[in-house]
Amino acid sequence: MKTIIREVKEQGKLIGLVPTMGCLHQGHLSLLEAAREECDFTVMSIFVNPIQFGHGEDYEESPRDLERDSRLAGAYGCDVIFSPPVKEMYPPGYSTFVHVEGLTAGLCGASRPGHFRGVTTVVTKLFNLVRPGRAYFGQKDAQQALVLKKMAGDLNMNLEIVILPVVREEDGLAMSSRNSYLSPEQRKQAAVIYKSLQAAEKMILSGVIDSEEIKRAVEAVISGADLARIDYVEIVETGELQPLSVLEGQCLIAVAVKFGATRLIDNIIVEV
Ligand code: PAF
Repeated sequence: MKTIIREVKEQGKLIGLVPTMGCLHQGHLSLLEAAREECDFTVMSIFVNPIQFGHGEDYEESPRDLERDSRLAGAYGCDVIFSPPVKEMYPPGYSTFVHVEGLTAGLCGASRPGHFRGVTTVVTKLFNLVRPGRAYFGQKDAQQALVLKKMAGDLNMNLEIVILPVVREEDGLAMSSRNSYLSPEQRKQAAVIYKSLQAAEKMILSGVIDSEEIKRAVEAVISGADLARIDYVEIVETGELQPLSVLEGQCLIAVAVKFGATRLIDNIIVEV
């Protein structure tokens, strides 16, 4: 990877990086399309990063199909797939980690201790290896997007973090590799997640600004699906991700819901 990047850099090309954990779907491919459009050379990393998974999470089960992913990425014009082995990314004795404070405390950070430390560490390593001018991430992982922007700013990383909209299935479910773990009945019921966010948006547009009232309504919609277990429903401002009691300015409504062992997240941003 380093050799290829050195050559590409010598040609003065702008490198676009799309970091992924594979099992590509339309969401990833939308990132790749944007990178292709805006950059001269596009790299997609496919690396299921063990250090961002907690105990009992789905690291081992994460679907891996490098052949299919390479074919898809190639068809979308990706120049290079970077898929390093775990033992090269984290050789024995590896001991350096990147941690963003504050922003990582709530939401998914509270439910998944150590998760963002794993994300920021691997993304830093990918940035150092690929040296992109632009790196592309999805808004579905809203907290991750903010954390990575903060990290890039705080550590004076010389690149632009580009965040692109959530890509949804026809019934509104946000695309995610984890959707493939759902049973047919869970998959059907999972559409309730986006419906709950739409209900919140509708309330806000009709003038409701009391956070608890909106959260209760979101929870009620999700609870209509008997297989859904709510992990969190939060309404926070989009700067520091601090909870809002009264909605004002840009508000992020973020939810995490479990169907069996599968944890799904989604969010919308509403301007009040
Ligand atoms: O969003 C993801 O798929 C992962 O968190 C990322 C950014 C590829 C880091 O492993």
